[in-house]
Amino acid sequence: MKIASFEHYKEVYKDSVNQPEEFWAGVADTFLWRKKWDKVLEWNFKEPNIKWFQGGKLNITENCLDRHLDTIGDKAAIIWEPNDPGEHHRIITYRQLYEKVCQFANVLKNNGAQKGDRICIYMPMVPELAIALLACARIGAIHSVVFGGFSAQSIADRIQDAQCNIVITADGGFRGAKDIQLKSIIDDALVTCPSVKKVIVLTRTRTPVSMIKGRDVWWEDEIKKVETQGATDYPAEEMDAEDMLFILYTSGSTGKPKGVVHTCGGYMVYTGFTFDTTFQYQPEEVYFCTADIGWITGHSYIVYGPLSQGATSLMFEGIPTYPSPGRLWDIVDKFKVNIIYTAPTAIRSLMSFGDDPLKAKDLSSLTKLGSVGEPINEEAWHWFDEKIGHGHCPLVDTWWQTENGGHMISAIAGVTPLKPGYAGLPLPGVQPVLVDENGKVIEGNGVSGNLCIKFPWPGMLRTTYGDHERCRTTYFATYPDMYFTGDGCLRDEDGYYRITGRVDDVLNVSGHRIGTAEVENAINMHSSVVESAVVGYPHDIKGQGVYAFVVCPNKHSDDELTRKDIMMTVARIIGAIAKPDKIQFVTGLPKTRSGKIMRRILRKIAEGDTSNLGDTSTLLDPAVVEDIKAGAL
Ligand code: PRX
Repeated sequence: MKIASFEHYKEVYKDSVNQPEEFWAGVADTFLWRKKWDKVLEWNFKEPNIKWFQGGKLNITENCLDRHLDTIGDKAAIIWEPNDPGEHHRIITYRQLYEKVCQFANVLKNNGAQKGDRICIYMPMVPELAIALLACARIGAIHSVVFGGFSAQSIADRIQDAQCNIVITADGGFRGAKDIQLKSIIDDALVTCPSVKKVIVLTRTRTPVSMIKGRDVWWEDEIKKVETQGATDYPAEEMDAEDMLFILYTSGSTGKPKGVVHTCGGYMVYTGFTFDTTFQYQPEEVYFCTADIGWITGHSYIVYGPLSQGATSLMFEGIPTYPSPGRLWDIVDKFKVNIIYTAPTAIRSLMSFGDDPLKAKDLSSLTKLGSVGEPINEEAWHWFDEKIGHGHCPLVDTWWQTENGGHMISAIAGVTPLKPGYAGLPLPGVQPVLVDENGKVIEGNGVSGNLCIKFPWPGMLRTTYGDHERCRTTYFATYPDMYFTGDGCLRDEDGYYRITGRVDDVLNVSGHRIGTAEVENAINMHSSVVESAVVGYPHDIKGQGVYAFVVCPNKHSDDELTRKDIMMTVARIIGAIAKPDKIQFVTGLPKTRSGKIMRRILRKIAEGDTSNLGDTSTLLDPAVVEDIKAGAL
């Protein structure tokens, strides 16, 4: 939605909360429906039961592809920049993308995929990853993308939970100087996944892989078969607005990641609307989101949001610091990028290299900047604004979550005023509230509390896959009749929101959500570990680091080696992204008489603030705290 001014925003916002159904019907009207909905919204947050655009029929890929063919068929839909700057980039127009998605939809059908099947995708950041998502959506299969940094065990857990019957992967993937053996990891995962009948393998790194007869097929061979069959089209499956579009697993405060479910109609409307609104996207702009499609940001703001709005979406295979810390700026220069959307971790990491990597980089094409994933500290905000935006690009700090589908609280580029460190004001249709510990709504400004949302929005999760009760208890039971975000938040005198971080046992490491319980479970798998407690601590680059207190009485004589063994165990069980930054061996954990670990104390010690640990007299063994303090890293 194009918004002309701050005043206009205020009017739109007011209307959107006074008459939400009319508002969202108006937004949904800008999309292509095979059949319009009978009812805009039905909801209660008790069960919860949330249905948007009931009775509506659509296919999201017709909105991302078919509807653009006559108008912008020759426009670049995806620009792809490889990990190695020496390799040639690729530009894929809307027409070409349409053809490739149809081709691969035929491949999926030839390999037995049906509407409603769950398909696991474990791929590097190549255009075929976006094609795989869209092809699943085209045939009505539910994709479940697993980020390339997760281990075989994590993939297996996710495949088993969703009972996937097909896996789409690649031989390997390039990320910086690393070459990740994706197919080999999949092979390990599939040992415990009898539901998987087919594995489609894209050639990327040309690393040797095992190919199991009857199960594994090459992507390229399957495409050739489709070409021989002469199948160039694939009529999109007609989907109900509330049919599942995808599952994306995310960590919570309990040990097991949960499969967040998004549905076709609401997610399409919400991602398209928020992409257009937040960035005020103009038709000729080149838009570059540096996220990985393995996370929600990539789903919503590399693939579905930009493509439904006919944007040019730049996709980068590598990492910001490879082969040099000027890589992102080379890409901006090379493709004359207008909008760059990245994460505070990336900004802080690039900032640490000083100004040298910026020399001789032409960043004059940039008009808008975006940040996502974690609170952005003021220093990083100003560096991004001044050094990259040269002070003339609005910098939108977008707050949202996997469960939200799209932006919730964010400045609107060039429209709403900016405040460094603040996500700002809610987007139209979003109704945030702050509540105190007892669930009482905190009114007025200049206050802080726990952030909840009191009214549904089309992009919200509908359930957690296979376990609706878990969805209810995690998000809708803490405070009655509200969606609880798990974030703490401050609302300043002007009504602007500043997210202060998680209030539950979830860490945000480099913008990635990691459950402390999940890491503890992984550490406890190590044969010599008796128990452990994991907390976060402030980390200059990652935002939060992972600090593990580990009780390990019979450890190897070499502490360092045992630390490495524990790291390796975590990498095997969860993936390299969850490896602790610090491991402190302790003789015991501070526990209450009822056996509860006092994390508050551990958090303070990890933060290096041991001056006031509060009341420790209720502890089973107060002496343990002194030992931990003495050994703090
Ligand atoms: O704590 C908030 C933080 O990231 C969490 C959501 O993580 P995830 O589902 O992985 O999605 C990340 C990308 C959308 C939130 O609960 N978070 C996300 N964006 C911001 C943020 N914290 C502060 N400011 C943000 N802009």
